Amino acid sequence: MEFHCPIPSGGGEADRFAAALAEFGGDALVVGVFAGDDHPARLALTRRFGSGLDDLLQRRRFRGKPGECVTLQRLGDTPQTLVLVGLGEPAGFDGTALRAAVAGGVRAAAAAAGVDVGLLFPVEGLEPVSAATAMAVAARLSLYKDQRFRSEADPEPRPQRIGLLGLSEGAAGGLEPVEATCAGVELARQLVAAPPNVLTPQALADTAADIAREFGLELKVLERSDCEALGMGAYLGVTQGSDLPPKFIHLTYRPAGEVRRRVALVGKGLTFDSGGYNLKTAGSQIEMMKYDMGGSAAVLGAARTIAQRRPEGVEVHVIVAACENMISGGAVHPGDILTASNGKTIEINNTDAEGRLTLADALVYACRLEPDAVVDLATLTGACVIALGDEMAGLWSSSDDLAAALQNASRAVGESLWRMPLRSSYKEGLKSGLADLKNTGPRAGGSITAALFLRDFVSEGLPWAHLDIAGTVWSEKGRGEDPAGATGWGVRTLVEWVCAGAAA
Ligand code: BES
Ligand code: MN
Ligand code: ZN
Repeated sequence: MEFHCPIPSGGGEADRFAAALAEFGGDALVVGVFAGDDHPARLALTRRFGSGLDDLLQRRRFRGKPGECVTLQRLGDTPQTLVLVGLGEPAGFDGTALRAAVAGGVRAAAAAAGVDVGLLFPVEGLEPVSAATAMAVAARLSLYKDQRFRSEADPEPRPQRIGLLGLSEGAAGGLEPVEATCAGVELARQLVAAPPNVLTPQALADTAADIAREFGLELKVLERSDCEALGMGAYLGVTQGSDLPPKFIHLTYRPAGEVRRRVALVGKGLTFDSGGYNLKTAGSQIEMMKYDMGGSAAVLGAARTIAQRRPEGVEVHVIVAACENMISGGAVHPGDILTASNGKTIEINNTDAEGRLTLADALVYACRLEPDAVVDLATLTGACVIALGDEMAGLWSSSDDLAAALQNASRAVGESLWRMPLRSSYKEGLKSGLADLKNTGPRAGGSITAALFLRDFVSEGLPWAHLDIAGTVWSEKGRGEDPAGATGWGVRTLVEWVCAGAAA
């Protein structure tokens, strides 16, 4: 799939719109239409396609509301397919609405076998370069289809050329990061969707090795014995019931010139979470627990994008303590006491709260690198899904600046984050009668105590943020530019945060 931004003749926004309508020579044209039929773009459409269009839209009850999409086939005419997508009221039109409308329109064009597709959207209220990025990313990500596990691929038609029409000069610059961004998100989606018999800790390490080889990053994979030497008792306790060896992955991106900032991205990498002896039951989504490595998928996807884009001034460490949470005669018992690599002892009162145990040692390791900030992503708690649903990830941070920077980054790329409290008094719930702390507190506030648990493994004063992506990692029905299934959530936010900070 290839994107281009043809420069239309004509000067102002309205002229450009009419010129783009007249000049498009491909086979499927997708036009975004605001609600109400007196908008200039609507009049330009009537002028281009005739008043029959108005009648047709009326009969099809097309009002221009968000989510509305009408496909018109015009045999023998150019363009052969015309797709109109509703944009709602101009006042409420933002990047998120644009992405969703582009996604809907481009899917309709693909379904009508459009190969050379044009996207014409009135983006006057938005910054043109980022609008171009948003449109191209949404178009490509919405057409993503995972056919790796079919015996025969479904030969679906796919657009080959996608033109972003009617944008101002200079908008083409927005296409530059698109390939790297989408490749990172697609990698994350593939990792998350892959079943646990394929996507093992070894397979995650192999993926890191592929990225390292392709883009010249540094990779260290610590084996079980290396982790033992570092005293990673919490992580090793989780993996000890599995027949698959753990892999502690540390991938490093170093920029060409001077390093002004160093960051660590830590991802939860449970390639399967059975719950352990606190076994998950039917209805607890045990069959979905392949996606419990969504945090690692996000940080590896981000690593791929960052490695391809090569931002200046920032060094990025990607850390994943990959393993499975399984049952066997060697598995951790409920009640075991483990010692993490910072010396803290943990009473395991629930083997299903395993992510925080692996993250504990991963965070200690990350902090020993003395970065300027640490961000972890994890499918950590069902409680976060109950609180925020599947459209927003929870954000906990010890630093207002870091929290704001991540929220800005997420807003810029259209991924939603909601800040949650690190309420210290709830630490009480993690008190153990025997050890320094236990790994789960009461049900109430479960995602907050999980975040507070993690905080105990982060160096005092080091800016740290925790993103609970248990809800956003997977979309049951699909939404916006996310087809049903793995979303790749987090890649774009992390890349934006790393690259925006690199420029600053
Ligand atoms: N991986 C799960 C969290 C999860 C649940 C993610 C549902 C996505 C959907 C995590 O390891 C877990 O099992 N958490 C427990 C914690 C509890 C034992 C305190 C949970 O949320 O039930
Ligand atoms: Mn669990
Ligand atoms: Zn888990």
